[in-house]
Amino acid sequence: MSVDTSDIIGKSRVLRDVFNMLAKVAPTETTVLVAGESGTGKELLVRALHRNSQRRDKPMVPVNCGAIPKELLESELFGHEKGAFTHAVRSRAGRFEMAEGGTLFLDEIGELDMSLQVKILRFLQEKEFERVGGSKSIKADVRVIAATNRNLEEEVKSGCFREDLFYRLNVIPIELPPLRRRGDDVLLLAEHFLDKYSRGSKPLGISSGARDLLLNYPWPGNVRELENFMERMSILCDNNEIKPADLPEKVLQAGGIEPEFRPDQGDGFKWPSLKDMQESGLDLKDFLENIEDRLLLEALENSEWVKNQAAEVLGIKRTTLIEKLKKKDLAPGSSTQIDK
Ligand SMILES: Nc1ncnc2c1ncn2[C@@H]1O[C@H](COP(=O)(O)OP(=O)(O)OP(=O)(O)O)[C@@H](O)[C@H]1O
Ligand SMILES: [Mg+2]
Repeated sequence: MSVDTSDIIGKSRVLRDVFNMLAKVAPTETTVLVAGESGTGKELLVRALHRNSQRRDKPMVPVNCGAIPKELLESELFGHEKGAFTHAVRSRAGRFEMAEGGTLFLDEIGELDMSLQVKILRFLQEKEFERVGGSKSIKADVRVIAATNRNLEEEVKSGCFREDLFYRLNVIPIELPPLRRRGDDVLLLAEHFLDKYSRGSKPLGISSGARDLLLNYPWPGNVRELENFMERMSILCDNNEIKPADLPEKVLQAGGIEPEFRPDQGDGFKWPSLKDMQESGLDLKDFLENIEDRLLLEALENSEWVKNQAAEVLGIKRTTLIEKLKKKDLAPGSSTQIDK
């Protein structure tokens, strides 16, 4: 069976491994635990699992276990009977019942408290549950897929997650790799998002310098961070291409570029502007000569006119330095100066 993963962009080997796993697991009835850092595309993957399963025409019901207050979560999941608690004026089905025949997606399952963990485990083992305030067992034909950005094994060790539930969920684990391990997928995704947010106009390009920097940055917020960033660029970037100077400080720093060396930015180094040149009264050639003279002299002074050292500081050969000094008439005439 060929699987449809068309909305998950990426060609890296690590992502292809995920697709292979998806192709094997999606058509089965097994419970799957999707793990991965925040923003790696866990929800996208879970939707693809459902879409490529036999249950595709039945509901896929997501529950974010971290976003629903603890007191409400049990009734949200399993439903309740009339009178089960103060505001339970009528009986109500929970998400397990709503997912009948389909898939229940338990997102952020690491957030479940212990008492609910027991109830989920019971469902996974017996395929039945009770509504809150009810005594009748209800059967449901529901496939459970769970996701977490926590390390559940650690949670088990620290006593926050039941070991038996962990093993029951972890029959098939799928780990979504962080974006920083997906190589050139960063660029594929960046272009995909620029296209998505171009709103009819020609999508922004990315200069080769900016590409290198995007590849170098570790993307702690993963694909979500990259998507948000490309959306921002599509709105703010004035050129038709993203250049290194458009990238935020943290991206430049990760690429080893100190912010002071950015043109027109930071409080440190500033490139001379045309205005500076005009104000000096010099033309381009003389202005540049002047800058060079100053740097040569400063290097020589700092190294007490030891030319080897000065040349090293300047990043040029000793012979080049001597040549420049001669040409500029800066060569020290006095014999007291050490000529090494
Ligand atoms: N490979 C991908 N191709 C295209 N879009 C992606 C990809 N991975 C993630 N996205 C997009 O990035 C955003 C975050 O993805 P998703 O919500 O699936 O991540 P998540 O792992 O569930 O994050 P969280 O842990 O914060 O819930 C979504 O807008 C999603 O469409
Ligand atoms: Mg999610």
